[in-house]
Amino acid sequence: MTQTASLAGLFDELAGSYDHAHHEEMAGALLALAGPGARDAVADVACGAGAVALQLARSRPADAPPVLAVDVSSRMIEAGRARAAALSAAGAVDWRVGDAVPLPVPDGSLDAVLCASSLHFLGGRAPADWCRALRPGGHVGFSLPLATHFRPSGRFAALLARDVPLPESARDAASYATACGFHDVTSRVHVAGDRRVVLISARAPARR
Ligand SMILES: C[S@@+](CC[C@H](N)C(=O)[O-])C[C@H]1O[C@@H](n2cnc3c(N)ncnc32)[C@H](O)[C@@H]1O
Repeated sequence: MTQTASLAGLFDELAGSYDHAHHEEMAGALLALAGPGARDAVADVACGAGAVALQLARSRPADAPPVLAVDVSSRMIEAGRARAAALSAAGAVDWRVGDAVPLPVPDGSLDAVLCASSLHFLGGRAPADWCRALRPGGHVGFSLPLATHFRPSGRFAALLARDVPLPESARDAASYATACGFHDVTSRVHVAGDRRVVLISARAPARR
């Protein structure tokens, strides 16, 4: 079984008991740092049950394009669709089940890419694809667990991408974003209970 298929299976199992409160908080913190423009073309990468996509959808005007929300777990997407329906936001999100890398969009077509709590599963191929999918100078916002406070259980630990270094500080995360080709990088540590993540906001290269 591939790594991606194993992740789909794991998150399918977890969808019924997902910690929405924690991920809603993280999504809010990420959007506060890296929120896109009101009518931007946006992707929520590895969206899960849509913590980022739904917060964004609720704050956008009715004529904004739907937020593209991609996740490999069909159960997480089902949960997202149900949450959207309950919020009367069904048309505001374009849900897709599948590998989020590459994103199902043409080169240079997105104004913003957001990825909460997921890059450490996706691996380094994801930021490379975001540079492809974003228009020159487009926005990216993502989070990574702070290495000093991250204690993944056995199954999670086995499925972590080996080519994404977990940062020990906001500065480490900024260096990683710069190494991925992003610029105008801002990063900060966000504390939520006993969990700590680094939030990163940056821009895609001005030219591809
Ligand atoms: C910790 S959850 C975060 C979900 C969501 N972004 C949030 O903030 O609640 C990680 C998500 O990454 C998804 N995922 C992992 N690898 C993926 C891949 N290659 N393509 C799409 N989704 C993936 C999982 O299915 C899961 O929903």
